[in-house]
Amino acid sequence: MTGRKLRLGVNIDHVATVRNARGSAWPDPLRAALLAEAAGADGITAHLREDRRHIRDTDMEALRAGLGIPLNFECAATDEMQAIALRLKPHAVCLVPEKREERTTEGGLDVASDQNRLTSYIAPLRAAGCRVSMFIGHDSRQIEASARIGAAVVELHTGHYSDLHAEGRLDEAEAELAALRNGAALADSLGLEVHAGHGLTYDNVAPIAAIPQVIELNIGHFLIGEAIYLGLGPAIEEMRRRMDEARR
Ligand code: PXP
Repeated sequence: MTGRKLRLGVNIDHVATVRNARGSAWPDPLRAALLAEAAGADGITAHLREDRRHIRDTDMEALRAGLGIPLNFECAATDEMQAIALRLKPHAVCLVPEKREERTTEGGLDVASDQNRLTSYIAPLRAAGCRVSMFIGHDSRQIEASARIGAAVVELHTGHYSDLHAEGRLDEAEAELAALRNGAALADSLGLEVHAGHGLTYDNVAPIAAIPQVIELNIGHFLIGEAIYLGLGPAIEEMRRRMDEARR
């Protein structure tokens, strides 16, 4: 499973954040997603949160209908989200923990403590043809539990690594990186497809992109921010260039 091309999934949630700040129809997440597609994104990720703070149900429907590249539907493991996913049948469903008070997804999903429920939760999604992904930390317990419940993919949470890197705590960032590398190798050995994401930027992406078992990165906030300066297409192309360079 190693040595494959590294895919870039672009998360367009924060296009909706800007739109919602004015309560208008602009900017349109689908238009941004189509620009991302034209710039070389391999997939689009959108997180339909319980409180609909950015992406809305109508955005998910428009993305599902309008995209030529795979849609990764990120959501909490609730009955409401399962029903929406079963109706839309996106390429992938990424399950994340969700707390109302958080600004972004803070930690990984606790798959190990919720194995029985998650096994039956993902069964109809798998039967509908969705690739089910667990957004987890690099802890071996969570990786092994993800394999046991029948998930196809794990997305390793790179938020802690990104924070340490941004704070200049480079020894700790290196230790976190080593743990992510071990986690990726374990997941791959268990037959899981390995993705990674959260907090990735031009400055910190290379060591994550270089992990051979990782075959997809999902990146949102930084790219949407960078698009203010460069435009979305060039911002994505530069990320793609850095990922490919790190992979060589
Ligand atoms: N992957 C998952 C599962 C996420 O929850 C997020 C944030 O929505 C991302 C990737 C992208 O993180 P960021 O916006 O920090 O690039």
